[in-house]
Formats: sequence, C-alpha cells, structure tokens
Amino acid sequence: MAKTIAPRSIHPVATRQNPMLTSKNRMKLGVFGLNVDSGCAITLAPERHMADDWAGNLEVAKLADRSGMEALIPVGRWRGFGGDGNTHGVNYETYTWAAAIAAVTDQIGVVTTSHVATIHPLVAAKQATTVDHVSGGRFGLNIVCGWFGPEMGMFGAPMMEHDTRYEHADEWLAVTKTAWNQEGFFDYAGKFFNVAQGFAEPKPLNRPVLINAGGSPRGMRFCAEHCDVAFLIMNQADEDTMRRQVKGYRDLAKNEFGRDIQVWCYAYVVQRDTAEEANAYLNYYVNEMGDDPACDLVTKELGIQTGIFTPEQAQAFRFHFKAGWAGVPLVGTPEMIVEQFEKYSDIGLDGIALTWLDYKSGIKDFVSGVLPLMEKAGLREAYRPGSEAKAAE
Ligand SMILES: Cc1cc2nc3c(=O)[nH]c(=O)nc-3n(C[C@H](O)[C@H](O)[C@H](O)COP(=O)(O)O)c2cc1C
Repeated sequence: MAKTIAPRSIHPVATRQNPMLTSKNRMKLGVFGLNVDSGCAITLAPERHMADDWAGNLEVAKLADRSGMEALIPVGRWRGFGGDGNTHGVNYETYTWAAAIAAVTDQIGVVTTSHVATIHPLVAAKQATTVDHVSGGRFGLNIVCGWFGPEMGMFGAPMMEHDTRYEHADEWLAVTKTAWNQEGFFDYAGKFFNVAQGFAEPKPLNRPVLINAGGSPRGMRFCAEHCDVAFLIMNQADEDTMRRQVKGYRDLAKNEFGRDIQVWCYAYVVQRDTAEEANAYLNYYVNEMGDDPACDLVTKELGIQTGIFTPEQAQAFRFHFKAGWAGVPLVGTPEMIVEQFEKYSDIGLDGIALTWLDYKSGIKDFVSGVLPLMEKAGLREAYRPGSEAKAAE
C-alpha cells in the first residue's frame, strides 16, 4: 500500500446535533420499542404494536421527529419470550432499523441498541458511523450486555457471568471508541479482543451519544464511567425512593468519574378524555387481554422472584409489568399526564421514553393533546421544524 494517501475531495461535516445532548427542554422525550412486537406491553390485545408494520414504524418515527422529540430508541432483541403471544418474537435488527429511520427523519436522535456479545466492536463502530452519517450526526448507541439466556445462546456461546459481561463491554467500547477516534492503524490487545492493524474510516460526524441501562452496582459503574445517559427502570416504591435513585446515579458519575450524566426512564402512556376511560382501557389490555404465561417467563428470566411479594404486591407488580414492562405510568387525561411529567421532572429525571399499546394512534393523541400542555407548563419549548438546521450551522 502507498505510504501517503492521496487527498480526498470531500470532507463531510455534521449538519445536525443529537438533541438528546443539545435540547434545552426540561423534560426530553423519546419513543421506545417501536422495532419489537408489542413494544413494552405484554398482552394479546389485537391492537398491540406489530413491529413488522414498516409503514407504521415510519409514520411514528416521522411524527416524533416533526414534533420535536429528542430520541427514537429501539429494543435490542433477537427472539421472543414465548407465552401465548411470543412478545418481542417479531423484531427488527437495530442498526439497519436506525439507518433507515435516520434517512427519513430530520432532527431527532436516532439510537441503536446493541448487545455487545453479538457483534464485533469494529463492525459495530463502522455501522454506527454509517448511521451517524446518514443522520447528519444524530446517532446514539445504547449498549446492552444481554440478560436473556436463550437469546444470547443463539450466538454460540453461553452468557457470561454477570460482572464479566461488563468487563467485556469495557473492552468492546474501548475498541469501538478507538475505531471512531484514531486516525490510521491501531492495535488492541485485551482479554476479550485482539485487533491487529485495525482501521476504520470514515469517522463519525459527531461523537455518538452513549446510553446504558445498568441497574446492578457493576452495570451502574459502567454507565457512570462511559455514558451520557442512564436509562432506568424506576423503583416506584414512593417519590423519595425515586428521587434517591436518580440522585444516586448522578452522584456516582460525578463523584467517581467527574462526569455529568442525564437520567432517563421509560413510561407506558394511556391517554383518554377521562380518567375512567383511561383506567378502563388499561384494565382491558392488562387484566382481560394480558399474556400471563409470557409475563411469568420474562419475570423468571429477569430473576424477579414474585414469591418475595405478598399476594397483593405480586398482583400489582404483574399488572405493572404487563402494562409496560414496569415503566412509569402516564395514565389519564392530557392534564393528568402533564401533572405526572411535572412530578418526574421534579424528581430529577431529564427525559422519558414513551411506549403505547398502539404506537400509531397513541403518539397522534399525545402530540395533539399532551405536547401543547407540556409547553404551557414550561416542560418543553414549542418546536419549529427546521430550526435545528440553523442551530447546527
Ligand atoms: C430502560 C431499559 C432498557 C433496556 N433495554 C434493553 C434492551 O433493549 N435489550 C436488552 O437485552 N436489555 C435491555 N435492558 C436491560 C439492561 O441492559 C440491563 O441488563 C438491566 O437493566 C439489568 O442491569 P444489570 O445488567 O446492571 O444487571 C434494558 C433495561 C432498561 C432499564
């Protein structure tokens, strides 16, 4: 190979920023789980989300984009959980999903969720860079280590012991970041990866936003050390517990690693004209149509021992899990939902990624009914399509 490389005629630059980092909104918003069957609900209700409705994926993604939301976050999933509906069984692969979504959106942060054990970090770095370029610099990477044994088993090796998964993720991310940042060739020699004369061009237009949802002490350290956003399952015992959980994550990042991180969680939205209608609908899809065998399988796989609960607590937990994977509830009229957003903002959350039973009708109602009230309440600025292009100049 020639020692000097001839100059190239183009030098691409970012035309956008990822609003997950740049948005000034007090409550940032995302859409979570559009790429998997049933989203976060564990139900057989026929109007549940069908992941392979590609036109539907585009409709929801474009509406989220045009309404000024900050993130589209897919679930990383390779097989379903069984039960009667095989929740998540039909799912789109997340890098290719993100690339296509990036091409038809304009301002929203486009995230991929990547199981580090399923993809070599150099391939991940290249794919991430491609999505980053397609999006003009709006890419984010949600790093997950895998917890669903049969899913990870599909890739030819048993799932690693819990904390080893994060040691592996540390190295995976080191290789990925080197590929993004280092000019020319590089070597890497670690316990899990060996790279000889690694090379990756082009580089991302913007540094990809890093996200992780670690909940264990080891997982939280990984997130606090490397990531911009901690994506939480909230312990909803009471408001003080939630406040402590959010502050604990921020303090860990600040005190141990000198870093400021955002804290997001996810929610299930059931919006109706009256509280009674919203609760009746929730009861319908959770209690009447819930996929209890799938709920049993998921909670068992997650290691959640419902035996530790009283019967009433166990029932409440199952309800919440079937409703939206135990995300925070945003249930009621638009006014009630805005009050709940106020509470979560006050608790210290920077953003919430939304899920619905039916994403297509759900996001339409949300954008027309809830967003204007969030703006009135000072939780968000009114969004003007096109303003981000100016801001990036
Ligand atoms: C908001 C949120 C989103 C998550 N998304 C995924 C996902 O898409 N795929 C996946 O396999 N795991 C996902 N997880 C699981 C986490 O990556 C992580 O394994 C889990 O929160 C347990 O934390 P730990 O790994 O520190 O024990 C998610 C968890 C949360 C809380």
